[in-house]
Amino acid sequence: MAESVKVLISEEDVNSRIRAMAEEITRDYAGKQIHMICVLKGGSFFMCELAKRITTQVSIDFMSVSSYGSDTKSSGVVKIVKDLDESIQGKDVLVVEDIVDSGRTLSYLMEMLRDRGPASLRLCTLLDKPDRRVVDVDVNYTGFKIPDAYVVGYGLDYDQRYRNLPYIGVISFD
Ligand code: IMP
Ligand code: MG
Repeated sequence: MAESVKVLISEEDVNSRIRAMAEEITRDYAGKQIHMICVLKGGSFFMCELAKRITTQVSIDFMSVSSYGSDTKSSGVVKIVKDLDESIQGKDVLVVEDIVDSGRTLSYLMEMLRDRGPASLRLCTLLDKPDRRVVDVDVNYTGFKIPDAYVVGYGLDYDQRYRNLPYIGVISFD
């Protein structure tokens, strides 16, 4: 089986959208420190690019949850693989994700974080596949809404590969 990747969103388009999102977030959090939580591993590329363009104070932490194996379908099981290093109590927390698909991971994660008493809690995702939603999730900032296809690049993987592509591509197997 030959894998191939076709560009869905170009590097230029991703970068200019991230710049616009960073400006919006900077305005919304004026005078505040944003505590960005990156959901590993997929969200890491997006979080760095976003954080670099935000001009208010930023601190970062990382968390790793898993709901997928090396398959492209959701197992529906969410497990904390790595918890945060610091408490989020009283902080203005912005969760940064690569993609919201079924919504299972994020709905679980947001509920768990809310219980830890942040001053505010918002969600920012680079990609959203609304057609695939099974569980409702409130997304505050969305980069792109995309059709139901398996995408890779900009942090997103297929079987741990392709995360380093500087664009978003659709993978196919011919
Ligand atoms: P959800 O719980 O179904 O919303 O999916 C959450 C996670 O599944 C995302 O954070 C991704 O890591 C992974 N995922 C979902 N769709 C894709 C995709 O198209 N490409 C790569 N990873 C995906
Ligand atoms: Mg993810």
